[in-house]
Amino acid sequence: MSTTVPSTRPADDRSSAPDAPVLSVRDLEVAYRTGKNQRVRALRGVSFDLYPETSLALVGESGCGKTTLGLALLRLLPTLGEITGGSIEFTGEDGQRRDVTAMTSSQLRRWRWSEAAMVFQGAQNAFNPVLTVGQQMADTLRDHATHRISRREIAERSGEALRSVRLEPSRVLSSYPHELSGGMKQRALIATGLLLNPRLLVLDEPTTALDILTQRTVIDLLAELREIHRFAMIFISHDLALAAELADRVITMYAGTVVETGSTRDIFSAPRHPYTSKLINAVPPVKGDLPELASIPGAPPSLATLPPGCPFAPRCELVTDACREAEPALIPLEQRERDMTHAAACIHHDQVHHERKVIARA
Ligand SMILES: Nc1ncnc2c1ncn2[C@@H]1O[C@H](COP(=O)(O)OP(=O)(O)OP(=O)(O)O)[C@@H](O)[C@H]1O
Ligand SMILES: [Mg+2]
Repeated sequence: MSTTVPSTRPADDRSSAPDAPVLSVRDLEVAYRTGKNQRVRALRGVSFDLYPETSLALVGESGCGKTTLGLALLRLLPTLGEITGGSIEFTGEDGQRRDVTAMTSSQLRRWRWSEAAMVFQGAQNAFNPVLTVGQQMADTLRDHATHRISRREIAERSGEALRSVRLEPSRVLSSYPHELSGGMKQRALIATGLLLNPRLLVLDEPTTALDILTQRTVIDLLAELREIHRFAMIFISHDLALAAELADRVITMYAGTVVETGSTRDIFSAPRHPYTSKLINAVPPVKGDLPELASIPGAPPSLATLPPGCPFAPRCELVTDACREAEPALIPLEQRERDMTHAAACIHHDQVHHERKVIARA
């Protein structure tokens, strides 16, 4: 008897998807130890829900905490990083809720890859260079499958996963990572992430470092894979055009915290945090003259010495004295269903004027 679990959920499953978030993150805090008695608060009070089969983009400049959040969600932080507060609740297909922050290492081993998987930033180095792709996929299956898994099943599942990202298993399984192009490696990593048909897939900068044509292939593939596998997706990107194309919802992060959240449509048509507006303005439009791209003056604050008040205040055109007094909380602005409510952490949200534009992939 074949033990292969079908890697696709039935097409009519969507309507019966439980109306509970796959992931509920509340007041998540992460700190990195940077020296004796010294800590950097890399995440501060991050809260959000992610519903089944939806996709969320995490955007923001380098160093704002995107990768840290992705790693924390899967409890994959490096040893110097630590979850110092808050909760991460994961709801499985069986409807059972589990607190990810309280899982033991053996519980984590069973949960990771089978229920929640991550495609790491810097795909070029994410594979072990001394093992073939096939060996690495087999290891992932053996280590994380919920049952003993035969060699035949390993071959079947690896082959199926590679074919789903349009790679030829007979060639790729026996290849070492350096024998594959960047785009093939990225696709093989996505295939590895999907091996155990997880309910949640986190992708960290899945298209960075790929040429434009290869980026296109990976983006089309992700859209297609979502249709087939119906996983919930969080993708981390500094590329807002990618977010506009693939995400149902966007979270803008700044200095380790969420400064705006809303549906992709709301965020791109009428951002209500000046930082999001600036990020969107820094993306080239599809039509019209080559624009003067608005770069954002200044740099993000050091997380070790955050100024009081709004962390964006030193770079903000709308700043007033009140901004420097207290850090604004997320203010709900437009109520939408489920997690789509548009909210911004800015006391001047009604003064953010944004010229609507259709943006192109850079
Ligand atoms: N291992 C570490 N030790 C100490 N500090 C770290 C470590 N990793 C990240 N940080 C700090 O945490 C903050 C967030 O880093 P993170 O890598 O999550 O940002 P990011 O948004 O993913 O940036 P990028 O767009 O460059 O990938 C940064 O200030 C960074 O310096
Ligand atoms: Mg990162």
